[in-house]
Amino acid sequence: MAIGLRLSMLLLALITIVSYKPTLQRLQPFPALKNDNLLRAARGDVVDRVPVWVMRQAGRYLPEFQELRKQHDFFTVCRTPELACEVTMQPLRRFDLDASIIFSDILVIPQALGLTVEMHAGVGPVLPQPLSTPEDLKRLTPDGALSRLSYVGDAITMMRHKLDGRVPLIGFTGAPWTLMGYMIEGGGSKTMSKSKAWLTEYPEDSKLLLNLLTDTIVDYLEMQVKSGAQMLQVFESSAEHLSKEEFLVWAVPYLRRIRNDLVDRLTKKGLEVVPITLFAKGAGHSLKEQSDLGYDVIGLDWTVDPREAREQVGPNITLQGNLDPQDMYRDPEELRNLTTEMVHKFGKSRYIANLGHGITPQTPITSMEVLVEAVHQAL
Ligand SMILES: *[C@@H]1O[C@H](CO)[C@@H](O)[C@H](O)[C@H]1NC(C)=O
Ligand SMILES: *[C@@H]1O[C@H](CO)[C@@H](O)[C@H](O)[C@H]1NC(C)=O
Repeated sequence: MAIGLRLSMLLLALITIVSYKPTLQRLQPFPALKNDNLLRAARGDVVDRVPVWVMRQAGRYLPEFQELRKQHDFFTVCRTPELACEVTMQPLRRFDLDASIIFSDILVIPQALGLTVEMHAGVGPVLPQPLSTPEDLKRLTPDGALSRLSYVGDAITMMRHKLDGRVPLIGFTGAPWTLMGYMIEGGGSKTMSKSKAWLTEYPEDSKLLLNLLTDTIVDYLEMQVKSGAQMLQVFESSAEHLSKEEFLVWAVPYLRRIRNDLVDRLTKKGLEVVPITLFAKGAGHSLKEQSDLGYDVIGLDWTVDPREAREQVGPNITLQGNLDPQDMYRDPEELRNLTTEMVHKFGKSRYIANLGHGITPQTPITSMEVLVEAVHQAL
């Protein structure tokens, strides 16, 4: 008995040594993951419970977030790993979530490329010197962009330690078309008329910009994985401004290249190929096309029917979503029923529960409690 035990311990030690692949020179190894339901759902493995997290779960609906933001400017929080980690941790202290997503912003890439980005209260992001004509592309500084984003890697590494293996940590980026939009419009836009005009007036320069962004994004995501990100999400939040035809021309090729180049890069360097989610808001018209891009998970906004989405993407892709963020303002009982119905429509396999877009600032805290509990109890 004792010999058998010792033998099996020796065997375990050997397996551990043989299967250990160093991913990065880190001072300390990361704590072991305790709740890996998110990663299992992403890979199509059996889960203990349907994993749930919420886009912008570290955000303004939390009073402790507002409190911290009174002391620190938005991008100071992003750029200071201690503050970014504190904010990332806030929702996990309150709710039984199955994932953590590093606090940052998609516009850190335009910043690293040399554009000024400010966060104006009540307005959102403002880029005072946007790209007006292709001449302005000369102002972009792709060389060294990655090193100017190293604070995101530092925050990710620190967060992995602070999480102590409780749930996986997600890293993210904006997608090329979405970033191009902000860089040309100078902020959010209801119509994206200037950036859409670029596509027709300066198609070659638009491709140049989209390819430059794609290259930067691949570098950035690789750095996030090296730093400890256990899953990645690509936000094509402005897909809703493109027709299906435009989406296939101006978004899809770059989304494909991001995934393929990143997987190649990680594989060649012996780094872990983490699951990747594509969330193209408003592109429910192209789920079939999205499912051919190689992403492990497709995020859905609330306009898409779960069962129709499953038909479109087939059995081997995980779906994420898609409760209407406005449903978070309903009575708790209604919200519970809607959440339960949603989970039943998606099913327990290959599903990650989420909202269909970011949680909004006035959402009651109790709605988050109801949502998370209802997901976990639905099946
Ligand atoms: C799904 O994956 C299984 C197992 O790898 C494979 O046999 C099957 O052909 C795939 N189905 C589709 C539609 O890709
Ligand atoms: C919620 O669902 C329960 C059980 O199906 C039902 O009895 C109840 O009327 C529903 N409540 C609301 C507000 O829809």
